[in-house]
Amino acid sequence: MRKDIWGYQLSTESSDAAQSISTATSSFITWRTDTMAHLDAAISADPGIGLPHAIKGLLLFGMRNPDHYPAARAALAAAKNSQPARTDREKHYVAALEASLAGRITEAVTHYEAIAAESPLDLLALRLSQFELFWIGEVGWMRDISERAAAHWSEAIPSYSAFLALRSFGLEENGHYESAEAFGKESVARDPGDCWGAHAVAHVLIMQGRLDEGVQWIEGLTGNWESANHIVHHLWWHLALFYAESGDYPSALQIYDERLRNLESPLMKAIPDLYIDLQNDISILRRLELRGVDVGDRWQPLADLARPRIGNHASPFTSAHSVIALSRAGYDDDALETIQRIRDYVSSGEGTLTARYSAAGLPASEAAYAHCRGEFGRVIDLIMPARRNLWQMGGSHAQRDLFFQLAVDAAFKSERPDVLRLLFGDFQGFGLEHIAERSSYADAFASLH
Ligand SMILES: [Fe+2]
Repeated sequence: MRKDIWGYQLSTESSDAAQSISTATSSFITWRTDTMAHLDAAISADPGIGLPHAIKGLLLFGMRNPDHYPAARAALAAAKNSQPARTDREKHYVAALEASLAGRITEAVTHYEAIAAESPLDLLALRLSQFELFWIGEVGWMRDISERAAAHWSEAIPSYSAFLALRSFGLEENGHYESAEAFGKESVARDPGDCWGAHAVAHVLIMQGRLDEGVQWIEGLTGNWESANHIVHHLWWHLALFYAESGDYPSALQIYDERLRNLESPLMKAIPDLYIDLQNDISILRRLELRGVDVGDRWQPLADLARPRIGNHASPFTSAHSVIALSRAGYDDDALETIQRIRDYVSSGEGTLTARYSAAGLPASEAAYAHCRGEFGRVIDLIMPARRNLWQMGGSHAQRDLFFQLAVDAAFKSERPDVLRLLFGDFQGFGLEHIAERSSYADAFASLH
């Protein structure tokens, strides 16, 4: 058996396959565009090894688009048909893929946890567990996995910067801002191209309301992202967010046109409908509209991307955003059908995500739609009972803030100071600081004082 660069055994005698798997893992954890190419190289070097097939399937599943599930199922079949000498670690990856495709996401996470318990340097398991738990809002679980692994890491281990970035984000989403900022900045100091470290620090800065620092932080790093994948769009989204919260709406809109939805960029041409891009784009446009900015005809292309997702229930957070794009572009029938299909999905009761849609994705979608219709009383009626569960639709506190902005806007326009007081009180609980200095909340906050 060969080993990867972290010292873990692989069911192959091919040094080329082992090297390609290590490179693919490095590529994946540092958000590069060539991960699949390295996995294909591993398969070519040793067609009998199952792990690269399983990883391919897991990455395809991670696209949150059922169109990719047939290919992911084919990868699962190929992984299962590989030579029987798989390690326990490899078996866990195959089982994680099988559970994921069956909709049992938390079960998949337990396989990553089992891998990380035995192999705490396995960045693939650490990253996949963080990814899956993030998209169901389980941030405490997410943090605990990276913290458990931390004792085994040191700067002597390959990709230490990537581990620091994972650790930083796990801590940040749980409000441990000081340590998150320190680990995130150390990650970027060791590898200036580490997008996840840059991202974790951006989250600390937006949560703490350090808007000017946020602009400087992101703008100082943009030259390091040439090889990165769509994560760069999300990093640019964070920059647009800092500008929007500062009240510099033209700069936010300029970033939207030049970076977030630039149809000429190779990344956008390769995958124009990636779920996280849709989230970014819909989120910033709606936030700007809440501040009175006319975003022109920008909704139409987003709605055209949202329409094929009407029956896509792979991501509650994305579904709630899709409803906004559809309604704002004038496709109210499609927005309502999206909501109805969510109801139907919830009633099926199968898999991890049905409960998440029920508790958070559905009320968020309905409230977002009601807000588009100007039905502010209904927004309040929908959000207030659900607001403590909205974390279950996944995403970060900063991302989900959009739905609180809709609620605050509705309460402000409905002249409901009682509701505003409750909502602003909630913000302290999830670590959103300097409310009065954010353009999103300044007017509503001032109305109470
Ligand atoms: Fe983010």
